[in-house]
This record gives sequence, structure tokens and C-alpha cells, in this order.
Amino acid sequence: MSRKIAITIVQDNKTINKKYIDLLKQHYSVKLVNIDAIVIESFIDSELMIVQINLNDPNVITPLKALMALPERSHIPTLFLLREFSRREIIQASTLGATDYTTYPCPENNFLQLINNMIHKPEKKAWEQLSETQEEALKVSLKVVEKTFHNASLGLEVSQKDVKDSCNLIIEATAKDGLTDWMNAIRQHHDYTYRHSMMVCGYLLSFGMLLGVSKTDLQMLAVGGMIHDIGKAKTPLKILDKPTELTPEEINVIKKHPEDGRHILEKQNWDKVMIDIAAHHHEKLDGTGYPDGLKGTQISDAVRIASIANTFSGLTDKQPGKPAMTAEKAIERMLEMDDHLDFPLVLSFRDVVLPSKINIDQYKR
Ligand SMILES: [Fe+2]
Ligand SMILES: [Fe+2]
Repeated sequence: MSRKIAITIVQDNKTINKKYIDLLKQHYSVKLVNIDAIVIESFIDSELMIVQINLNDPNVITPLKALMALPERSHIPTLFLLREFSRREIIQASTLGATDYTTYPCPENNFLQLINNMIHKPEKKAWEQLSETQEEALKVSLKVVEKTFHNASLGLEVSQKDVKDSCNLIIEATAKDGLTDWMNAIRQHHDYTYRHSMMVCGYLLSFGMLLGVSKTDLQMLAVGGMIHDIGKAKTPLKILDKPTELTPEEINVIKKHPEDGRHILEKQNWDKVMIDIAAHHHEKLDGTGYPDGLKGTQISDAVRIASIANTFSGLTDKQPGKPAMTAEKAIERMLEMDDHLDFPLVLSFRDVVLPSKINIDQYKR
């Protein structure tokens, strides 16, 4: 029998939920270590480390910081099991160097899938495919998206210039090296909202290129994609990242994000097109969308295009409790939504996401 992959679980004395440990023991060789007693030998042979400690307890933060700073630890992906999806805990976990984070309980399959993905590092493999320009564009734009959402959640400045500059980097990298590898790397990002924002940005870029729009319009589409869900910065994370099905009340809370997005961008004097995209990407041609119930020609072209990229990204991305659809299936479904989405534009979009030839030369410097 082959040797089981080892996982080290770092705990404090107050660990409440132990069920996941039994689940992991069925598949992996699990080592349990207390944060006060950890030594390099406790984890050096492990393929993954799981940290489940109370991040509000200053007595354990110091040894945890020391552990996370060890060079031997930096090679081992580290999952933080949070008590709740609060921005405070997430920021703490990220600052300490968490590779990913989740809460438990969550559906067992999702949990095992996450563990498996972390051990086999598809993210790292996807990043290895990137050219230097693509990697730079990805690093910068991810930072900008994180900062933009973080600032928006705190009511701080949301800089249009930062987002535009990072989109210019993406446009340049795309014109030089294509978008496919870049999108593959994004697809592995652990945070759904950031991943989705970047994916929509990428789809809108490809779509704009296929439609042959000007470079200024291309930039506008990319920025619009990146910030279309900025209103979600105001949605409580325990709803936004809930691993189980949402209640009708929770759905109503999520549905506030287009209006929140409009307020965030209006307050900072963003361009009208971007505000239009953030406010109206959930409107539908037959008037059944939200928040304003816009109908037909009341919905601008930029919003029609953004809605298509947004819908496609939602259907084809994995989300808790919802398997990802293939591109073919998603396009088929979207062509049936002709009372909601602009049918001729969906047909054009099909050429973006199903193999086609896009002329990117016109966007090269
Ligand atoms: Fe949205
Ligand atoms: Fe969205």
C-alpha cells in the first residue's frame, strides 16, 4: 500500500471543532501539534499544514507568527481554518501568510477538494506558465483588486487611477502574450469575488478585442469588469462566502451590491460608464432585473456586454455547492436567456470563449 500523504494540524488548547480531523484521517496521515509545542520536525515532511487557532488570542499569535516566518514552513501550503468569515480574520490570516482559508463545518466534499487542490498546487503550476509580463500584470492587478475591495469595505478612497493603470498592464501583457495562460492562473485564485472580478475583466478584454473596439473603450471594459461587483465589498463575508445554500433573506442582502457599487463609485467621481456597469450588470432586457428594472434600450451597450461576461463567469466558475458548467453548456444556456441577455452579443461572445481567432495585433504598442 502506498504511503499516505502527511498533513500537520496546528491547534491551540481551545479548538472546538474536531470533526474535520476524523474526516482527514480517512484519507491522510494526520499529525496534531499544539502551537506551543511545535518544532520543525512536526511539519517538515508534511505536504500541507492546517492552522486552527483563535486569532484573537494574543498569547498564540506570537508563536504562530514565528512559525509562519520559518523558511522551512514557507514551502508548505498552509490553510487557516477560521472561526467565521469576517474581514478581520481573513486579513489576519492573509497577513500571517495563509495560502488559503476556510471555515468548518462546510460540505465535506468541498473541504476535501480544497485540501486536494492545495496539496497538488494547481495555482503554482498555472503561474509557472506565465511570461514575465503576464506575471507582473497578474501580481499588480490582484493587489489592486484586493486593495480596492478592502478600501471600499472601509469607506476609504477607491482609486480609479490604480485600477486603470493595472488594467493597462493587463492589456499590454495580453497584446504581447495572449490571455489564455493569464486566465488559467486567475482561475486558481482561492477567493471567489477577486477571482470572479478578474475573470470578468479578462472576458471583457477578449470580448472588446473581438469586437475591435478602440483602446480607450478596451480599457473602460477591463476596468468595468474589475470593479463591476465592487458593491460586494459592503456585503458581509459570512453571506458572500457562505459554503451552503443562501436563505431568501441572504439573497436579498447580496442583491444590494449593485446599488452599493453605484454609491461607492459615485462618491469617488468615477467615470459614468463604470458606474453604469457596477449599478446595472444585473438588469435584464425584459425589465425583470435589479436594482432599477431597466428595460430594452434603457440598458446601455457597455452594460449588455458586461452582463454577458458576468453571467458566463458565474456559470463556468466553481462555487460552493454548485459545480462549474463547461463553456459550451454555459453558452447554450445563455443563448436561451434571450429575454435577459442581448442575443446577437451572446453569439459574438461565443467566439471569445470557444476556440476562435482574435486579432490582438491592433492593441500592440
Ligand atoms: Fe454582481
Ligand atoms: Fe459579478
